[in-house]
Amino acid sequence: MGGYRELFEASLADPASFWADAAAAVTWTREPQQVLDDTNPPFYRWFPDGELNTCANALDRHVEGGRAEQPALIYDSPVTGSQRTYTYRELLDETQRFAGALANLGVGKGDCVVIYMPMVPEAVIAMLACARLGAVHSVVFGGFAAHELAARIDDARPVVVVSASCGVEPTRTVDYKPMLDAALEIAEHDTATCVILQREQRPSELITGRDHDWRELMASEDTAPPHAPVPVAANDPLYVLYTSGTTGKPKGIVRDNGGHAVALLWSMRNIYDTEPGDVYWAASDVGWVVGHSYIVYGPLLLGATTVLYEGKPVGTPDAGAFWRVAAEHRVKVMFTAPTAIRAIKKEDPDGAALAQYDLSALRYLFQAGERLDPGTYHWASERLGIPVVDHWWQTETGWSIAANPMGLEVHEVKPGSATVPMPGYDVRILRPDGSRCDANEEGAICVRLPLPPGTLPTLWGDDDRYVAAYLSAFDGYYLTGDGGYLDEDGHLFVMGRTDDVINVAGHRLSTGSIEAVLATHPAVAECAVIGVADDVKGQVPRGLVVLKAGASADRLEDELVAAVRENIGAVASFKTVDVVAALPKTRSGKILRKTMRGIADGREEPVPSTIEDPGVLDKLKPILRA
Ligand code: COA
Ligand code: AMP
Repeated sequence: MGGYRELFEASLADPASFWADAAAAVTWTREPQQVLDDTNPPFYRWFPDGELNTCANALDRHVEGGRAEQPALIYDSPVTGSQRTYTYRELLDETQRFAGALANLGVGKGDCVVIYMPMVPEAVIAMLACARLGAVHSVVFGGFAAHELAARIDDARPVVVVSASCGVEPTRTVDYKPMLDAALEIAEHDTATCVILQREQRPSELITGRDHDWRELMASEDTAPPHAPVPVAANDPLYVLYTSGTTGKPKGIVRDNGGHAVALLWSMRNIYDTEPGDVYWAASDVGWVVGHSYIVYGPLLLGATTVLYEGKPVGTPDAGAFWRVAAEHRVKVMFTAPTAIRAIKKEDPDGAALAQYDLSALRYLFQAGERLDPGTYHWASERLGIPVVDHWWQTETGWSIAANPMGLEVHEVKPGSATVPMPGYDVRILRPDGSRCDANEEGAICVRLPLPPGTLPTLWGDDDRYVAAYLSAFDGYYLTGDGGYLDEDGHLFVMGRTDDVINVAGHRLSTGSIEAVLATHPAVAECAVIGVADDVKGQVPRGLVVLKAGASADRLEDELVAAVRENIGAVASFKTVDVVAALPKTRSGKILRKTMRGIADGREEPVPSTIEDPGVLDKLKPILRA
């Protein structure tokens, strides 16, 4: 092994030639003649004249290439006590028939389909079926409630919504269908057609004329005829995935077909050291980007076997659950969020459960979604005795900006660092005036344009917001929204968000959208939400509210907690509200969230010189530190 530095430098010096080589791993229906179109900055397009079908690359070519009987997907569901393995042939069969079913329901190339489902194989089949038709899927995480789902439906404007009757959490069954019905009520966009997977744990009532039963559709060739893959332009969208921004309105991150396939295939071998036939398990959810890239597309594009796990790291049934899955399916590469490892460590501090399982196949544990704190890194690497690899990325990029590339060149591990920038990412740390920070000096982490293939070309239907949110802070750079530094060896340390996005158990949430819910309560005059440190979840949101004159605080906390759960979803883990006399602000009226967060986390925060009334902050300190 060796050669990271040369490859990295080559990728920046001559991106077109670097990514042309990588593009050879994809099966194109029309080979791209041009690699990068940079004639319209800040918009860049990869493989503009290429044509392909992502689903055909993920399924058909492996069936045709000798992997038809190899497991493609292993569904392991401790919450329902079931398991099922799909070979590539079986996954193709189900996918092409569901594509036919969607086509019969009016879905065509370029149409959008919203998928709101738990971690069941049908979610993967629905995604791949959309890709097969050249339709654009938008998966909404099942932990989001009706209002969040409605906001995404209104932005995505789907022709069909695919959902399930329920999700199964360790302690309860979550009704998805009533949440979907409520969302369709709230949404302005009119969705005429839904497909519902009835789960035996709790079937739902279907609305005649609108809802179709997944199994009934799939039972007949008339309603589910096999559909061939539809070639699409490399720049056509494969999916839209909404993520939290600074405002309450989620951003629709667009992923194209061509660059995505090229980048993911490159990453599977070079970052994850995975070969066709290997078993790869990302213990995430299809509702997040990790699920899109590394439960569904990455492993399947490569011809590996992916594991789809419907369960938790603890409580399904115990802290040995992950090790059981890894051992039982001979997983080679495992990918989780650090929060999951912290949850295991809390219940099984010595890692005693590990001894019960044969983990001889397991070669790597990859970590992302939030910073891998050194304590968790040491615990996992000592207990597992394999490389524990932090890597940093975002919904926007779709694959790692920085990693320790296990298939290319193994770098020295510096706990707390995501290691080095990946090819194509010219990472720069910038000061507020745009000048470059020195080594070890913290600043805004930016990437010089163009971003590599697979990263967002724009936001769904909103080029202006794309430019305003990411490209306008520093001319010629993509603003990641994270702060951090490069050390003297070029190792990158990502220290946290510089905006109002918080990270709760690996889930990215906007404090703005939680504030929007609190503000609608009749007793609340003003409010702020901050993310405060939590041992297991990394961060949890905490609310501070100022009452309207004469309003009562009776039952207020319960009502606000319930409102956030109902509007945003249980996943927000919003449990704490304090009533305060006033919120600290700058003279121009900006609430000092960062200062409050620092105080709540026990740090000595400098008081900004622009503060309007330092007395307000002094009075808040004991509350924040309690
Ligand atoms: N559908 C419906 N509800 C969901 C849900 C889903 N897909 N996912 C989570 N929820 C609910 C949970 O049931 C829980 O509800 P409760 O308040 O009634 O208990 C709430 O949302 C919070 O869930 P969660 O964040 O999972 O917290 P937890 O306390 O149940 O478990 C962890 C904590 C750390 C074990 C868990 O968060 C975890 O496994 N995190 C890993 C996250 C991850 O993989 N992120 C992807 C980035 S790589
Ligand atoms: P998401 O878009 O949901 O994947 O969240 C992306 C955000 O999670 C990033 O902007 C970071 O703030 C954080 N994040 C993800 N991975 C890491 C990591 N390895 N180290 C530090 N922060 C991370």
